[in-house]
Formats: sequence, C-alpha cells, structure tokens
Amino acid sequence: MNFLHLAASLLVTASSVNAMGDLGFCIGTKDNSGVCKYTDGYKEDLQKLAPYTNTIRFYSTSDCNTLQWLAPALVAENFKAVVGIWPTDDTHYQMDKDAASTYLPQMSIDNVVAFTVGSEALYRKDLTPQQLADKISDFKNFVSGIKDKDGKSYSSVPVGTADSWNVLVDGYNAPAVQACDLVLANAFSYWQGQVMNNASYSFIDDIMQAVQQVQSIKGTDDIDFWVGETGWPTDGGNYESAQPSVDNAETFWQQGICAIRAWGINTFVFEGFDEAWKPPSTGQNGQEVQGVERFWGVYDANGTLKYDLSCKF
Ligand SMILES: *[C@@H]1O[C@H](CO)[C@@H](O)[C@H](O)[C@H]1NC(C)=O
Ligand SMILES: *[C@@H]1O[C@H](CO)[C@@H](O)[C@H](O)[C@H]1NC(C)=O
Repeated sequence: MNFLHLAASLLVTASSVNAMGDLGFCIGTKDNSGVCKYTDGYKEDLQKLAPYTNTIRFYSTSDCNTLQWLAPALVAENFKAVVGIWPTDDTHYQMDKDAASTYLPQMSIDNVVAFTVGSEALYRKDLTPQQLADKISDFKNFVSGIKDKDGKSYSSVPVGTADSWNVLVDGYNAPAVQACDLVLANAFSYWQGQVMNNASYSFIDDIMQAVQQVQSIKGTDDIDFWVGETGWPTDGGNYESAQPSVDNAETFWQQGICAIRAWGINTFVFEGFDEAWKPPSTGQNGQEVQGVERFWGVYDANGTLKYDLSCKF
C-alpha cells in the first residue's frame, strides 16, 4: 500500500477535527467465577474506566441479559456504548432484537454511540457479505421504530459492523461495508505473531489499509470508523514471535494505541478487565497452559491497573 500518501491524507482529516481519536474499552459480561454480571458489577467496571473514557462496547444484547443489566449502569454512570447485535442464528438475532426493543426505551440515545450487527461474522463466514448487508439494513429499519426514554427515535444512531481488518480490506466483502453507517476494524499484532519491535508498525499499517478501503468503498474521506478491538496480553503463552508481558502491553499502548489515536482514529481496546473465568488453553503437547485469553485487560482480575494509560507525547 501507499502508506505515506495515506498518512498525509489522514493527517488532513485528523487536523481538521483537531482532536485525538476517542478511546473506548471492550468489556466482558461475566465475573471472575463465570457468572453473568448484574448492574452493580457493570457499575464497578464503568467507575474503574471513568478516568480514561466514557465509552464501552459489547457484543450481544441478550447473552447474559447484558442490555437488561447494563442499561441502568450506563444511565447512572453517564456512559455510552457501541451496542452489539448478534446476527446468527435467526433465533439469536431475534432474541437480541427483543432485548433491544425492551431495554433501549429505558435509556437515552445519548447512551448509544452506534449499533454493530455482527462481530467478525465475515471472518468466520457465518454470513456472506450480502447476507450481512441485509441484516444491517433490517436492524436499521427495526431500531428506527424504537424511541428512547425521552421519546427520541434511535433512527439517528449509526448502524454498522465490526470485523477483522484483513476481511474489510478484501474487496469481496465490499457489499457489507457499503451497508454500514460505521465500520469497526479489529487488528491484533499478537495474533499475527509479531515481534514486539514490529507490532505497532504492523498494527498501524493494518488499520491504515482498512481505513483506505472503507474510504474507497464509501467514496469519501469522511467515514465513521473505529478500531474495534486491539491490545496486547500481559500473561499466558507466546504466539510465534509475540510475547505477552506487562512491559510489552505498555509499549503497545504507547506506540500502537496512543499513536493511532493521534492520527485521529477512534479506538476500542480489548479489553478493560482480565477475564479469569475463561478456561485454560491446551498446548500442542496436550498439557494445560495458562490461557492467554485471560490476560488482555488493562486492569487485572482484581481491578488493579497494570500500567500507566496516559499517552506520553
Ligand atoms: C513487520 O510487519 C509487516 C506488516 O505486517 C510485515 O509485512 C513484516 O514482515 C514484519 N516484519 C518483521 C521483521 O516481522
Ligand atoms: C487477586 O486476589 C486474590 C485473592 O486475594 C489472589 O489470590 C490473586 O492472586 C489476585 N490476582 C491477581 C491477578 O492479582
């Protein structure tokens, strides 16, 4: 790709809005013992994150009855969310729509940044690009009929999807991108096995490619775009040349996350809190190893911040 050219065009966009990209966190829906969180648990999470952001994202409104318990926490703590809708299978999709129509009226449109229909649905090939586009249009139509607690329609809230950066770059998936008001691109240098001194370069290059492709499909530089998930684990196993550690996570925070936000790109970090309930992974030798999936939080499982989150520039 033509990185320098793209970087220059992004700089114009970034300076015209004159701000760092927003920061948000993905949050889990279960406590350390694997029990679905209730409103008090979500409130604790939001209070911990409040010094850094007022924005979170999650993946399904009905799993763990998330929207039912989270909605009052969002309202009480003055937070907003990218609300996830799970589009497959049809029963699950209907349950997510039902939860949306029940609990969105208890919130304000100001508590909702956007809706995402699907998270890596294209990457997993759960849906074809056209099927996802149809689901996005269907949900857009559905949610425009729902009003918030003050009688305002959710029709003004953008609807889009989240998927892996390389899937978004693939022209085959353009019909899905075309249907989106906003796009979230996930990029994990860790899962690409990147050595630390190349991890931030690789991440920024991935995201720039996704931005460029979305701009090209949409025919405008003025796109609603977020990094949907990124981060670096602090413990668990190595993945090829990628090594989890607190030092590496902090380096990736400064050189990857702070840097991409300085380009004006909004970024969701995966994730707010370690998820101790996640099962250990099994290594190639068949023995249990510490599961890296437990250690992606900027806070550990006891709610202690692992490293400084201020951007140092
Ligand atoms: C660094 O990352 C880039 C982009 O992902 C990749 O093409 C390149 O091979 C990587 N270099 C090293 C030394 O790993
Ligand atoms: C969290 O606290 C428990 C109980 O005090 C302790 O056993 C555990 O090691 C702590 N975990 C972390 C990640 O600090």
